[in-house]
Amino acid sequence: MSPPQGAKSAAKAASQASSDASAWRPIHVAIIMDGNGRWAKARGLPRALGHRSGVNALKRTVEAAPKAGIDRLTVFGFSTENWRRPIAEVAELMNLLKSYVESDLDRLEREGVRLRVIGRRTGLAPDILEIIERAERRTTKNDQFLLQVAFNYGGQADIADAARRLAEQVKAGTLEPDRIDETAFERELSTADAGAPDLIIRTSGEKRLSNFLLWEAAYAELVFQDVLWPDYGPAHLTAAVEEFRRRDRRYGGTGVDDVLATA
Ligand code: FPP
Repeated sequence: MSPPQGAKSAAKAASQASSDASAWRPIHVAIIMDGNGRWAKARGLPRALGHRSGVNALKRTVEAAPKAGIDRLTVFGFSTENWRRPIAEVAELMNLLKSYVESDLDRLEREGVRLRVIGRRTGLAPDILEIIERAERRTTKNDQFLLQVAFNYGGQADIADAARRLAEQVKAGTLEPDRIDETAFERELSTADAGAPDLIIRTSGEKRLSNFLLWEAAYAELVFQDVLWPDYGPAHLTAAVEEFRRRDRRYGGTGVDDVLATA
């Protein structure tokens, strides 16, 4: 039986990367920006101020990422489970997405950043949808850097949505069930353009994925940093990249640069 498609392409990537040590950097980094609430609580501030400081940390990180050799950054802004928070906090997070895009879109557009928002659009207010669509439209041709914001995103929801789209194609007679493999599945995920992250960072000391990029995390390196998100900055990002560079990625293989049985 042949190995899964994903493992084949990952093994090929590993073999290419190992032939050029200087290229050993995380191209695509994803971040679970955790700890805004604890940061605010430690200062006797409302949680909203933690989230607002979190936006400043996001701005610092977006600026630092290309300098750290990163081409694509995916950040977890609002999960499908975050609707369980108090109404005022949900409203604050919605407003922060809007104000972040309003304040930074011109600069991001000028600097060649493509902005994408992944996650379910259902349930988002018209003004939020409008700003997301405007940001994506205005930056669609940019190719210097990809900033992908996961908003109303859940890994399980994304997988379920992909499965539904494939089922619809089968029902319409445009897809044979036996053509559904890992590659066909990945094409239906909201991350199809950006692909899988090389590195997933979670701040605040918590060690779990919390429904973030579940499919895409298959071979990502995980780095957990003991810093609350509002305190995050370029030095923390560099430290995470350095930690990544010390990892030995084998994608289920041996890591030895040899002729691959599945090449
Ligand atoms: C987790 O901290 C953080 C979030 C749920 C939201 C992250 C949002 C930002 C950093 C603001 C910027 C976002 C966008 C989309 C521009 P938490 O509140 O769960 O912290 P806690 O675990 O300490 O309570």
